[in-house]
Amino acid sequence: MPSYLIRHASLRQLQVFEAIVRLGSFTRAAEELFLTQPTVSMQIKKLTDAVGMPLFEQVGKRIYLTAAGRTLQNFSREIFEHFSRLEMQVADLKGLKKGGLRLGVITTAKYFIPRLLGPFCREYPSIDVSMKVSNRERILERLSNNEDDLYILGLPPEDIDVIAVPFLSNPLVVLAPADHPLAQAKEIPLRRLAEEPFLLREYGSGTRIATEQLFAKYNLKIKMRMELGSNEAIKQAVIGGLGVSVLSSHTLTLDFPVDRLALLDVEGFPIERHWYVAYPKGKQLSVVANTFLEYLMQVHQHLNDVLPYKGKNKSAPSYYRVTNQNSDEEKLAATDEGPSIKK
Ligand code: PGA
Repeated sequence: MPSYLIRHASLRQLQVFEAIVRLGSFTRAAEELFLTQPTVSMQIKKLTDAVGMPLFEQVGKRIYLTAAGRTLQNFSREIFEHFSRLEMQVADLKGLKKGGLRLGVITTAKYFIPRLLGPFCREYPSIDVSMKVSNRERILERLSNNEDDLYILGLPPEDIDVIAVPFLSNPLVVLAPADHPLAQAKEIPLRRLAEEPFLLREYGSGTRIATEQLFAKYNLKIKMRMELGSNEAIKQAVIGGLGVSVLSSHTLTLDFPVDRLALLDVEGFPIERHWYVAYPKGKQLSVVANTFLEYLMQVHQHLNDVLPYKGKNKSAPSYYRVTNQNSDEEKLAATDEGPSIKK
């Protein structure tokens, strides 16, 4: 038993510490926790004394974590995760699905994940969902820091050990302005598409990686006209006649201007990819996270009327463990009906 810390530190102090780190300010932490600022300072002083080293340092007006503060941050994250799992398991024993679910969602998945959350939250009204939408770099950083319960992304990382379960197909399609000379053409060779000026997503985007991989496979070079950091900007630039582009068909769900954009029929397209739900290997999923994972496995039932274009395969084929160091995908179980979770 760590008797010294048990006698001198308290969960309340850790809660105050967590709020300060998350909000970057003593004042905002005090507001969130309905405490006075002197109380917050006192709690941190006691925690600092218990740890025996400074937890924060102030440079100008900003506060930063010291090395000891960062270590404590990792431990307190784990402690709170254990407590919330405990709460959820007790609720589960009472027959309730209750607690928080933190999702880290890659930019392009924001087009359909919020729609999926509707039926989920109606079915489980006691589950509070928070969703962080970010680019791939930031989502992978959150994943390696274990900041959320589950991550939704189109391409599992190669350098982090994760469990990644495909749950929905993610066809990538070629977009051109409606009046493009190739708009009515059939089976356009990829070589012909390579002659068109291209609009590409930012470096590191999953959509861009998949597009570049397809061209590289046929030794073709993309004629990049412009790099744009968002799917919406790309759609507008395509309509504006700046070039053609490849995007997930799921970006076309909401207010897709059908009369202003054309989907080109190009050899090798749609690129059939999948959306994955992922979490760090070894992470113990909470009851709530498992409930959401199981819900995602039936996701095609909820999305039928939401997605206008589903590609050739409507459901994802199997369950993968991505072992990563060597980026091997190890197939664990497969069904004909779509993905299943191996228990
Ligand atoms: P994005 O899409 O990174 O291009 O937003 C996700 C993915 O397809 O991996």
